[in-house]
Amino acid sequence: MNTLARAAALAAATLLVVACGGGEAKPDSPVPPAPAASLFTRLGGMPAIEAVVKDFATRVLADSRINAKFAKSDPDRLVSKLIEQVCGATGGGCTYSGRSMKETHTNMGVTEGEFGALVENLVAALNQAGVAAADQAELLTALGTMKADIVEVAGPATGTPLPAGFAPWTKPAGQ
Ligand code: HEM
Repeated sequence: MNTLARAAALAAATLLVVACGGGEAKPDSPVPPAPAASLFTRLGGMPAIEAVVKDFATRVLADSRINAKFAKSDPDRLVSKLIEQVCGATGGGCTYSGRSMKETHTNMGVTEGEFGALVENLVAALNQAGVAAADQAELLTALGTMKADIVEVAGPATGTPLPAGFAPWTKPAGQ
């Protein structure tokens, strides 16, 4: 092989290595890539989730578009169950011990507009905590799957009253 041919062969080999990602770690590399952090971890773990849920609940209870729905309910239980639910849904290892979304929100008369108002309060709390847009989107997608079990009334109305037939959670006797 003459010099020119050798240089061309070398250039071709170099191109091949680069194109095939020859510089990347091999599967049996001693340092495997770190697994992707769960949404729970990216949100900042339990302290961050507790802070966001508490701020969210404060906003919801001050929002006249939706606060009538909470008139008969225990805010401490709501906060503790929400923390558990968000921790569980984001990979934090908590087991949600509350009632199903269907059972909890039955006869509450929640409209689509009120569901949207509640989500706005959550987004405000997430922004306040500095949660990245992509992480917010992932959490909202997870919560969006629950909408059908929560909304009972189609349409954008907000500030609708809590129906008289709504029965809130009450502490079982003896607890
Ligand atoms: C994705 C949206 C929502 C989620 C994840 C959610 C989650 C929860 C959870 C975990 C509880 C506690 C369940 C338990 O006590 O066992 C709860 C209770 C409650 N939620 Fe929601 N909720 C959502 C939307 C809404 C909306 C839109 C409203 C009204 C505007 C609402 C009103 C209430 C009320 C009033 C309670 C207390 C129920 C009671 O006292 O029995 N929720 N929710």
